[in-house]
Amino acid sequence: MALRIIFVLMLIAVTSVNSTAQQSTYREPYRPQFHFTPPTQWMNDPNGLFYYEGEYHLFYQYYPDGNTWGPMHWGHAVSKDLMYWQHLPVALYPDSLGYIFSGSAVVDVNNTSGLGKNQLPPLIAVYTYHNMAGEKAGRNDFQYQGLAYSTDKGRTWTKYEKNPVLPNKTGIKDFRDPKVMWHEGSKQWVMTLAVKDHVEFWTSPNLLQWHYASSFGKELGAHGGVWECPDLFAMQVKETGKEKFVLLVSINPGGPNGGSATQYFTGDFNGKEFIPHRSHQNKQPVWLDYGRDNYAGVTWSNIPAADGRRLFIGWMSNWDYAQVVPTTVWRSAMTLPRSLTLRKLNNNYHLQSTPVSELSALRNEFEGIELTDLMKGAIDITPHTATVHQSEWVLDLEITDTKTETCYLQFSNGSGERYRIGYNVKKKLYFSDRTKAGNHSFSEKFGTSVHTAPRLLKSKRIKLHLFVDASSVELFADDGTVCMTELIFPSTPFNKAELVSEGGAVKLISATCYSLKRIWE
Ligand code: FRU
Repeated sequence: MALRIIFVLMLIAVTSVNSTAQQSTYREPYRPQFHFTPPTQWMNDPNGLFYYEGEYHLFYQYYPDGNTWGPMHWGHAVSKDLMYWQHLPVALYPDSLGYIFSGSAVVDVNNTSGLGKNQLPPLIAVYTYHNMAGEKAGRNDFQYQGLAYSTDKGRTWTKYEKNPVLPNKTGIKDFRDPKVMWHEGSKQWVMTLAVKDHVEFWTSPNLLQWHYASSFGKELGAHGGVWECPDLFAMQVKETGKEKFVLLVSINPGGPNGGSATQYFTGDFNGKEFIPHRSHQNKQPVWLDYGRDNYAGVTWSNIPAADGRRLFIGWMSNWDYAQVVPTTVWRSAMTLPRSLTLRKLNNNYHLQSTPVSELSALRNEFEGIELTDLMKGAIDITPHTATVHQSEWVLDLEITDTKTETCYLQFSNGSGERYRIGYNVKKKLYFSDRTKAGNHSFSEKFGTSVHTAPRLLKSKRIKLHLFVDASSVELFADDGTVCMTELIFPSTPFNKAELVSEGGAVKLISATCYSLKRIWE
């Protein structure tokens, strides 16, 4: 009896600890202030991104009962401007067919599925079911695709009664993350699916019946890990105005600086097959982001033609350590939303990522940094009005001195910690050094090396556009032709900023720091 009482008391204690853990203030240590995060608990991949009637929808892999990965649901939020988000109830719960893994959503404008109501087009989500019983039984067909639809602006979702819409007959366990698009050229729906070490394209007239079209990538690109979360979409090349296709493929592990990362291919798509451009016809991968913390990112469907942007968001973490990063109450943030542009540079196609223009609405005061024509060593550029740990930087530099070795921004705090991000002139590499930037005892894989990114442009001008938000840094260098997204966990917030030039001098052409508003009330 006594034992039973003690057990009950313990249970009450544990429950109350848990319920305290459920309270979110949005002011917790490391909580980003202008990035999307769930109020509480675990989040991974962005899912089901679409735009409809003035709202950007963002769904995400969500475990509402814990702070690490667990039975997957789709969490849900909407925004009118990609900046301020309104949390909505969980959209999809696991059911007898399985957990709800990653997937996509589209507006079925012409009601091809017949699931619309009262002249309203249905919103259709296609996702992967992961069936635990099947996995435990050692089967190889426990991942298959299901469908859910909404006719009330995404507020409630009904699972399709004849699920699954695409069973797994491949004999391959990894059969997931459907990304659906309408292909205007062949007037049909195309689903891109990650299948272990390649992608498969499936086509459909109505989103309900799917036919195998082709496979791509077994021999191409990076193969250090399993392929996940693909995305195929059309883009107009900035230089030529021609339509080309981009295929994003996340891979885990095997990224350029270790662990999870997203590679991409450019080419043509004829409604059946993806034919890669010459520069994407070999094993040499091309990466969307060279930082460690931009994974499983995909793009929004149904952005109005008048807007015309291809908008992207990624999960700002890495499976190497995502479940043990030192945050409580919530775990994981999304990257800033980015606009992708397809460029033809030096006769090759490249993706350029820039933070969406809506971000400028968050700018408060700005501070021009005093320009020194030629600077050497370290100059203190700590802003007076902005807090370093919630700031945006736009720096334009020129390196004319042949002795200059590295040139970087350094953020530091009173705890003796510092983070460096900038350019290594000698090696022609951008770099991010978080090895002394604070806490990394939670994982051996977090802080052991300096991460680097090759440069696409050869000019002497170095342009850095940078966002710092509590526990993240995002670099868009050379107008977004090089990106690095990195998590950092300083034990006290960084409050000092310096610009450092080692070896020789650097010319500061312009430099501005903005303080940014927080998005949570
Ligand atoms: C990518 C991923 C997906 C899968 C989901 C499960 O991070 O592994 O392939 O659908 O996460 O949460």
